[in-house]
Amino acid sequence: MNSNMVSGSSERYRQLVDNIDNLPPFPAIVNRLIEVINSPESSADDAAKLLEKDPALTSKIIRLANSAFYGIPRSISSVSTAVVILGFNAVRSIVLSVSLMKMFPVIKNRAFDRDRFWKHSIVTALASRIIVRHFFNVRIMDPESAFCAGILHDIGKLIFCEYMSREYLEVCEYARENKIALLDAEKRVLGFSHAELGKILAEKWALPSDLGHAIIYHHNPGDAHELVDLVTTVHIADLFAHESGNGLWEEEVSPGEWEQARTVLKLSEADYRKVNETLAQNMEKSSEFFSIIK
Ligand SMILES: [Fe+2]
Ligand SMILES: [Fe+2]
Repeated sequence: MNSNMVSGSSERYRQLVDNIDNLPPFPAIVNRLIEVINSPESSADDAAKLLEKDPALTSKIIRLANSAFYGIPRSISSVSTAVVILGFNAVRSIVLSVSLMKMFPVIKNRAFDRDRFWKHSIVTALASRIIVRHFFNVRIMDPESAFCAGILHDIGKLIFCEYMSREYLEVCEYARENKIALLDAEKRVLGFSHAELGKILAEKWALPSDLGHAIIYHHNPGDAHELVDLVTTVHIADLFAHESGNGLWEEEVSPGEWEQARTVLKLSEADYRKVNETLAQNMEKSSEFFSIIK
């Protein structure tokens, strides 16, 4: 290992945290939508009124509501109908995805391809949704909440890229050259990971706990004090995304599987194969979701 590695990590960490003070606030419309969703008095019309203030967002919500991605068998022409039919959590995913993609537009870069980053996030989201639909009581865990957590799970990588771009490209190169997982390269080169960075983000942006927990603990679900099922779902979904060739680059090494993961989710070998097959059958849908939100 190069002697520069890790030795300067606490200094780098401090610099990064200082830089993050300049991080743009979480998109206001998302925060307001989350408030509306969390308020027991809110109706679909309240959410629709808020969303309709943004015509570009409105058109994306309506296009997605009518896409094969959600597979709704009737045509949806208004945001309020979209909210009623898709539900608050699905709309939260769409609004979050559209807003974050606006904040961090797709830029192609040899070492960190944002196009692939979003594809990875969407496939992880889709796999999370499939796991919950197949193996959980949807009254206990909403598949759309898992989808949203999947979309956001690696957000720390984007922030690394934005605020430590030169160093992070080195990390990506290091992972490629040494054929190790990016998570391990981050720890070796920078001394801290995108999940640790995610903790700062979750606090700064005051994210709801389902999203915050998935961001912070998706590589170590055993450390989560609550929402372990959700965090483990995203953890396994992340591995499915890697195994299906949707890493940040072609041969990106998959991060390790938590040994308790399949026990926590009660996934047998057959269940595991079933998720894999369903994911493969639905892969085109993830491209459709991506093409509409970007
Ligand atoms: Fe990750
Ligand atoms: Fe990931």
